Amino acid sequence: MAKGKALDTWQQAPVDGYSTRVVGGDDYALTANSDIVIITAGIPRKPGMSRDDLISTNAKIVVSVTQNILKYTPNPIIIVVSNPLDVMTYACWKASGLSDKRVLGMAGVLDTARYRAFLAEEIGCSPKDISAILMGGHGDTMVPLPRYTTVSGIPVTELVAADKLNAIIERTKSGGGELVNLMGTSAWYAPGAAAAQMAVSILKNENRIYPCCVLLNGQYNISNLFVGAPVRLGRDGVQNIIELQLNTAELELLHNSATAVREVVSALDNMNLV
Ligand code: 2OP
Repeated sequence: MAKGKALDTWQQAPVDGYSTRVVGGDDYALTANSDIVIITAGIPRKPGMSRDDLISTNAKIVVSVTQNILKYTPNPIIIVVSNPLDVMTYACWKASGLSDKRVLGMAGVLDTARYRAFLAEEIGCSPKDISAILMGGHGDTMVPLPRYTTVSGIPVTELVAADKLNAIIERTKSGGGELVNLMGTSAWYAPGAAAAQMAVSILKNENRIYPCCVLLNGQYNISNLFVGAPVRLGRDGVQNIIELQLNTAELELLHNSATAVREVVSALDNMNLV
């Protein structure tokens, strides 16, 4: 399958005008000397399943993929996409022994993309004009932040009524589930684009600021936990974590989300898989 997908993508190159030779296969030697590795492996959600239901199956897959990657690239930057995202990022980091700057998870870019798309539809503007940040775990407790959401510099609260904004926040929180229900499996175009955007910022040292799943060590009064926060992505991976001046209500939502992620981390730790 990977070989076929790669060949198909390579044959797209003359039409779309790119030169990158894409290869695929089931041999980890193909990944040798990678600058970045993106792990998406894992079973996808079926309708009715939460991301957390996937924990033990996907932890075994992510740990094995991580170990195999390291045989051919000793010090990669790894972006994890597998679910449950925050916990799989932790599993990868623990199994890898890599610096916490070099292991991060893709969730916030996708979740803000959903939030921005829904807002654009409501306002009737281009999604390009919406800038937003979102924090917390990649699950129903994620924390979209209206106070940090603007439409071409205009605070979103000046353009969208409170009830509409709340409805969009709720829809964003279950945005992945909405797609699973429609398609019987998880989304891939927007997740793929989101992971690629993170990789480009790292590879080109763009220093873009994105919400990513990273190891917090004291920021936001959260320690020893992989969870979503705004970071600057550059050549070293996570260049730095940005500490927003959250108000009490926002901090409470973030801490609730962190507690939910920590419960799944404990479940994983109890399985002694990593
Ligand atoms: C999603 O939310 C893949 O977790 C991903 O669609």
